[in-house]
Amino acid sequence: MNLTANIAGFNFDHILLNAAGVVCQTSDELDSVLASDYTGAVVTKSATPSLRPGNVSPRYHELTNGLGTINSMGLPNEGFAYYMDYVTQKQTDKPIFFSVAGLSKQENLDMLHKIEESKFNGLVELNLSCPNVPGKPQTAYDFETTEEILTEVFSFFTKPLGVKLPPYFDIVHFDNIANILNKFPLAFVNAINSIGNGLVIDEETDTVVIKPKGGFGGVGGPIVKATALANVRALRQRLSPTIKMIGTGGVTSGRDVYEHVLCGADLVEVGSQLAIEGISVFERLEKELTAILTEKGYNSLDEVRGQLKIIE
Ligand code: DOR
Repeated sequence: MNLTANIAGFNFDHILLNAAGVVCQTSDELDSVLASDYTGAVVTKSATPSLRPGNVSPRYHELTNGLGTINSMGLPNEGFAYYMDYVTQKQTDKPIFFSVAGLSKQENLDMLHKIEESKFNGLVELNLSCPNVPGKPQTAYDFETTEEILTEVFSFFTKPLGVKLPPYFDIVHFDNIANILNKFPLAFVNAINSIGNGLVIDEETDTVVIKPKGGFGGVGGPIVKATALANVRALRQRLSPTIKMIGTGGVTSGRDVYEHVLCGADLVEVGSQLAIEGISVFERLEKELTAILTEKGYNSLDEVRGQLKIIE
């Protein structure tokens, strides 16, 4: 079965990888994703210029009944230099996505200048959608600022770069963000980050389940699948074909991966379910996906990509 993909000249032998933030904060975690025989790449935890401990705990919670997760990690990470060392020194055949999430435009520009000047030869994912830093909005909900940032970025940045987006919920917003993104030579767009600022309440104690921001946090897992698929589909329909799509959100089965591909995903990332199940999730998902493709008589994901049918 051919599960390969290509983004900006990088070949991916498998369609799955971790979502930024999950099993990718330390070099050991990053190594474990690369070591899986069922991953096509790895993405780092979103880096900020300096090390960040992140928000207070509890800051991550799994909902009962397997519905999903809520987190307000607050970008805990080892700092830009740590990931720069990792991504420039790691010997691997798999492409590496270097995720960065500055807390201001200037922080993003500073990190991207350093990447541009470095020997890093992978892909960069600019995270414009973290919902969990108190006082900082999800950048990509502000279309003007997003365009301004990308204009400055592409005035000097020449390596393959994509953006991680928050979910959008209105057709006009899909139109607006796609119009802006199409102005730039983006290698890819990744949809979606967690659905920001959900609220989960513990039944026994009538208390929120995470401490930061009074309980508000980013929601992931099965409850976000429909929103994730809608964003992948809507953006694939609107973005230039040269911009590849990464689908993230609500993947717990091979069928979910298949549906992301039907909507147009070139690669598919696993967040909540990777946190819950561990690295073996990639093997299970790929085997389930292959079984579906075989049963339907396909030899390659290319035959499925974007082929979602609508009711005429
Ligand atoms: O859900 C998320 N949590 N998305 C991000 O972009 C960052 C992360 C965190 O560290 O809070």
